[in-house]
Amino acid sequence: MSFDTARLHAEKPLLWLAIAVLMLGIFVADTITELQIAFAVLYVVVVLISVQAGRPRAVMLVGTVSVFLTIVSYLLTRFGDPDAGLANCALSLVAIGAATYLALRIEAANLAARQAHADLAHMSRMMLVGELGTSIAHEVSQPLAAIAANGNAAIRWLSASPPNGAETRKALERIVEAAGRAGDVIGRVRGLAARKPPSRELVDMAELVQETLALALGEIRGSQIGLRTELANDLPAVTGDRVQLQQVILNFVVNAIEALKAGRADDRDLLVSLATDGRKITLSVRDNGVGLVQGALDKIFDPFYSTKPGGMGVGLAISRSIVEAHGGDVYAAPNYPSGAVFGFTLPTDKAKD
Ligand SMILES: Nc1ncnc2c1ncn2[C@@H]1O[C@H](COP(=O)(O)OP(=O)(O)O)[C@@H](O)[C@H]1O
Ligand SMILES: [Mg+2]
Repeated sequence: MSFDTARLHAEKPLLWLAIAVLMLGIFVADTITELQIAFAVLYVVVVLISVQAGRPRAVMLVGTVSVFLTIVSYLLTRFGDPDAGLANCALSLVAIGAATYLALRIEAANLAARQAHADLAHMSRMMLVGELGTSIAHEVSQPLAAIAANGNAAIRWLSASPPNGAETRKALERIVEAAGRAGDVIGRVRGLAARKPPSRELVDMAELVQETLALALGEIRGSQIGLRTELANDLPAVTGDRVQLQQVILNFVVNAIEALKAGRADDRDLLVSLATDGRKITLSVRDNGVGLVQGALDKIFDPFYSTKPGGMGVGLAISRSIVEAHGGDVYAAPNYPSGAVFGFTLPTDKAKD
């Protein structure tokens, strides 16, 4: 099973061009040939193709225009047997009507699937926020502690005689800076928890990795994990949904932390890297934790596959559908001598030129 991809695609001009050309071709053929030849039945194909547009209104429009063109062709055509022509016209109209009805049903089912996918993705993000709760609290409490300490310092510098304006100012500046840091963390958590339709924006992957790791940093440090990052310079931007991509990275990182915590306590390494060949960006999250279960590689990205007690097994499945909706691929492999590596490749904006 694979999830229906989230709607990240913009309008599809090529699809509409193909539909218009097909309809025009059918119309011309239907009009210039004899009445006995029921070319109009081919509109059924166009109606079914219009499901690709992903909007019920598109299907309705194509169905209606097909009916209209069929009738116009019938009225315009001068040759052939009029009785057979009328019967053919009626049959074509019934076929087009039935196809439009079926196409609308398909479209409604697709819509429900997309909605279910969005719900599941959101739920899985909320679970991530829950799992990282203590880590996030830690990231917020640090700047709060800094604010308190510098606030006290500012009071002391002010009550000295004579009051020290320069030092007070420095303490206040540190307060503002710490408040900004706390606000950033909260903003990121809110971004993860919010329900928003998928968007398309330019994403700086290096920045996204740093921000994502910031959310898990408390957990990483608290679990005695040594974190390294290797982020290539001058990475090209990718187009996509920031929050969704962050969700994927966070899934890999949280899984890696869990695999590390289940392994040796004295040797826990996590390496997050970003590399590029210009056309694509590769992210990888490498750990030396417990490693993949034998034979797991085939099903690891399947929904509801989990080897953890109480595990939901949706993280990697959602991650794969998000990455594929961005035109990329996910991968998983054993790490040597121990652990696993998970990652994805995404096309960069340059690859589309
Ligand atoms: N870094 C990793 N090391 C070892 N196994 C992993 C790692 N990441 C994922 N897995 C395996 O993939 C399964 C599915 O992961 P996921 O979809 O995130 O669900 P969950 O974390 O709820 O089990 C995990 O139960 C685990 O067996
Ligand atoms: Mg997981």
